[in-house]
Amino acid sequence: MEIIIQPTPEAATSIAAKLIAKLLREKPNAVLGLATGSTPVALYRELVALKLDWSKVTTFNLDEYIGISPQHPQSYHSFMWENLFQHVNVAVKNVNIPDGMAKDVPASCELYEKKIKAAGGIDLQILGIGTDGHIGFNEPTSSLVSRTRIKTLTQQTIRDNARFFGSEEAVPHHVITMGIGTIMEARQNLLLAFGDKKAAAIAEAAEGPVTAMNPASALQFHATAKFFLDAGAASKLKKADYYRWVYENKPVWQQF
Ligand code: PGA
Repeated sequence: MEIIIQPTPEAATSIAAKLIAKLLREKPNAVLGLATGSTPVALYRELVALKLDWSKVTTFNLDEYIGISPQHPQSYHSFMWENLFQHVNVAVKNVNIPDGMAKDVPASCELYEKKIKAAGGIDLQILGIGTDGHIGFNEPTSSLVSRTRIKTLTQQTIRDNARFFGSEEAVPHHVITMGIGTIMEARQNLLLAFGDKKAAAIAEAAEGPVTAMNPASALQFHATAKFFLDAGAASKLKKADYYRWVYENKPVWQQF
């Protein structure tokens, strides 16, 4: 696991954007795994500003709420079109987001997994992290080998996401999410976390034991996982000085 600590979210985001841009330039038909929430908004803004060619890119989103239509302002469909897709030349047929209105949720999840495989697997997955350590919507105690499926949100996540819906009552309880097993198969995993409120989850994920109680800790078993943090999210890491030193002293060939 590589931990990149920057003074601000903007600085961390800009390095992550560079890595993604590098992939899209080297592999124009890359398969990207995308995340929603407040964390990646600035990342998408940077990617748009870089004016990359998305015409051959395929995307798979991590998750979606069950029971709200794609047109709902808080659906992750709406989020993605608003924050990224409408600003780039991505082909609509190459955009994949779990179907929160599927009549047969298990069948739609199975199909999602098949589509990821048929696309050749995910080259680079962008991740946020919940204050409870979730990645995608894999809440604590999710199987570390889980696949795309239905999950029930924790009270903590419902509280955290109430800010988008106006009230806790309006937050759907059920979601479809890629599994931890699905995420672990991405060739690269880039997790972004900003602010003090993420510090405990990040410290557990990076320096605690690998445990289903903190799903992001599974990334310790991913060969190239990278965490992009600001000072707040890094504030509970025991080895923060070491991570900073490593990043500042990377050999030239290893620099981003
Ligand atoms: P946030 O959510 O980016 O809105 O903090 C992250 C997550 O729940 O994965």
